[in-house]
Amino acid sequence: AIDPEFESNREVVEQHEGHNVWGPVEEPEELGIHGTHVAVDFDICLADGACLEDCPVDVFEWVDTPGHPESEIKADPAHEDQCIDCMLCVDVCPVDAIDVDPG
Ligand code: SF4
Ligand code: F3S
Ligand code: ZN
Repeated sequence: AIDPEFESNREVVEQHEGHNVWGPVEEPEELGIHGTHVAVDFDICLADGACLEDCPVDVFEWVDTPGHPESEIKADPAHEDQCIDCMLCVDVCPVDAIDVDPG
């Protein structure tokens, strides 16, 4: 599961589509955590897709991640600023790849 303390335990190593990427990143095998308010651990995401289907405000967009061992697409929190903290994505992700920090 995603580390809920990632903001303490990791460092921002780059930006992607306007959000933080928390390392370590070693492409293509290691991709880190994308986003901060809505954070997706790309190294855990296996492209289930429930988060994209269920988010009422369409926070997520698929991004291509060729060569990653878990899946070659990931749910990117491209619109994390739109999140209404319903927590649905956190509940439906089968591998607990998502952390949402309300408030
Ligand atoms: Fe979307 Fe709700 Fe998840 Fe926010 S908490 S990203 S609104 S499903
Ligand atoms: Fe990935 Fe979980 Fe969404 S596996 S696609 S973050 S439901
Ligand atoms: Zn991203």
